[in-house]
Amino acid sequence: MAKKILILSGSPKKKGNTAILVNWFTEGARSKGADVEIVQTAFLKYKSFGCTSCRACQKSEKYECAINDEARPILAKIAKVDVIVMATPLYFYGPSAQLKLVFDRMFSLYKWDNEADTMKTPLKGKTFVLIASAYEDMGLDALEKPFRLTAEYTGMKFQSLLIPNAGESGNIKDKTAIKKKTITFGKQMV
Ligand SMILES: Cc1cc2nc3c(=O)[nH]c(=O)nc-3n(C[C@H](O)[C@H](O)[C@H](O)COP(=O)(O)O)c2cc1C
Repeated sequence: MAKKILILSGSPKKKGNTAILVNWFTEGARSKGADVEIVQTAFLKYKSFGCTSCRACQKSEKYECAINDEARPILAKIAKVDVIVMATPLYFYGPSAQLKLVFDRMFSLYKWDNEADTMKTPLKGKTFVLIASAYEDMGLDALEKPFRLTAEYTGMKFQSLLIPNAGESGNIKDKTAIKKKTITFGKQMV
């Protein structure tokens, strides 16, 4: 069966470096038969600014966010795919706020029992992939850390493609070595 890949692309630039990297990654993954869906998290309609910490998800049996907006079905999809990809520009040594709007709501895909000291999640065993770019040649290690730690905590395999010196938004399109590397990376994730 085709491997299912869901990409959460978190840049506010529709044709920027993140979008271009995501397209190259997708080209590689689809060439190996993957079923790839791309969601641009900056353009979903939200009813909240990220996770509101309402904890309603922890009281329900379902792995479902209580906020009923366009992010909710995307979160449900995350629980079903084989590979979750998050793509983001580096913004002050962290991911974009537009990506965090969905990332933090993955809280609903965990069930914690603090008394029993247990955690359950359908994310265990999946692959978690980070694609990130920056203008400068430093800072991507800081950005990577919360993604890697989340993968470790959850029991997901972690892979990343970090692109320093990517230039301003859209400039990456002429960088053929990065294109090749990203297509190859996409193939390897299948
Ligand atoms: C708000 C903002 C913050 C940024 N912060 C950094 C930074 O701390 N370090 C860096 O190297 N580049 C920084 N950049 C540049 C972007 O990370 C870089 O150009 C990226 O490739 C742009 O991707 P995009 O076209 O998908 O938005 C920043 C850009 C913006 C708009």
